[in-house]
Amino acid sequence: MRITIIGGGAWGTTLGQVCIDNGHEILIYDVNPKHVSKINQLTHPFFETQLPNQMKATDNLNHAIAFSDIMLLSVPTKVIRVVLKDINKLLKKPTFFINVSKGIEPETLKRVSEIVLDEIDHQHYKGFVALTGPSHAEEVILRKLTLLVAASTNFEDAKFVQSIFSNESYLRVYTSLDLIGAEVGGAVKNAIAVVSGACTGLGLGENARAALISRGILEIVRVVEFMGGKKETAFGLTGIGDLIVTASSENSRNFQAGKKIGLGIPIEQIYQESKQTIEGIRTIEALEHLSSQNGLELPLIHVAYEIIKGNLLVTDAVPKLLSRDLKSEDF
Ligand SMILES: NC(=O)c1ccc[n+]([C@@H]2O[C@H](COP(=O)([O-])OP(=O)(O)OC[C@H]3O[C@@H](n4cnc5c(N)ncnc54)[C@H](O)[C@@H]3O)[C@@H](O)[C@H]2O)c1
Repeated sequence: MRITIIGGGAWGTTLGQVCIDNGHEILIYDVNPKHVSKINQLTHPFFETQLPNQMKATDNLNHAIAFSDIMLLSVPTKVIRVVLKDINKLLKKPTFFINVSKGIEPETLKRVSEIVLDEIDHQHYKGFVALTGPSHAEEVILRKLTLLVAASTNFEDAKFVQSIFSNESYLRVYTSLDLIGAEVGGAVKNAIAVVSGACTGLGLGENARAALISRGILEIVRVVEFMGGKKETAFGLTGIGDLIVTASSENSRNFQAGKKIGLGIPIEQIYQESKQTIEGIRTIEALEHLSSQNGLELPLIHVAYEIIKGNLLVTDAVPKLLSRDLKSEDF
């Protein structure tokens, strides 16, 4: 099978390697010439390992689109709409979309599957699957055991993506028909991971982190259910699973960004210093809009938003959360 990968960052390149391991042909497209040339030299700016010989990249979108009718999207969600507009102008055949980016568009509160439907002409759209779950690229590139979920409203499409990415040595993919739950869980966990990092930056201990992860899961469930997904999905790989790997790992960029927020580093400086995508901060903005427009209770997200916007000192965050009315934990 031939697969085009849009975005040759850490995750797109890693999934390219999975495809090659599984006997598929790939072509990666990226706007960053440094990434394209490094990949073609079988190296990558974010990894020390040698990439497989079959790894190929281009900065020519026309070539990338002509290469296959399966398009794997692995760019930051903030550029997804504009990238899809460019793709749509060049598409000549029905194309299948797989998305691995995790986020919600703050202006529209749309998920990536909805943005794809907005931007791709009906006659060029063959299906959509979100491939998501607990996965650090840094581990998958070393072929360390990882479990993912292929979520789609169409079972055959989910099975198709399951079969492309699964192998018997390090990657196992489950199917799910709860596309909303999987997409929303993957996005919201990044926001909670930022809060968890802030907790560490503030010097709070493991008690606080465990409490925050538990209360964070509650906020994930609330958003998943509000947006039409299933609560149970939030308790699986794409929700709790992904939250665990992100909210307690120094490998996570969202956790690292939060840690810097906790240390009092300004948000602009955090963005400048990070060479890679930090989805969680933008997702916090999206979730704050969702919460304020719909009266959805998301206290952790709200406090994080106030800090990011400069309305609350990070050192005042804990007193603010603790001054809320005392409550029961009965569900
Ligand atoms: N890194 C991980 O472990 C991981 C795991 C699962 C999911 N994800 C998700 O995958 C997405 C991508 O993550 P990443 O880690 O690869 O990020 P990254 O920052 O490493 O890479 C993003 C890539 O997109 C490219 N890009 C940016 N704008 C572009 C455009 N207009 N056209 C083409 N390419 C463009 C950049 O040059 C870069 O190479 C994010 O949404 C992230 O949440 C990442």
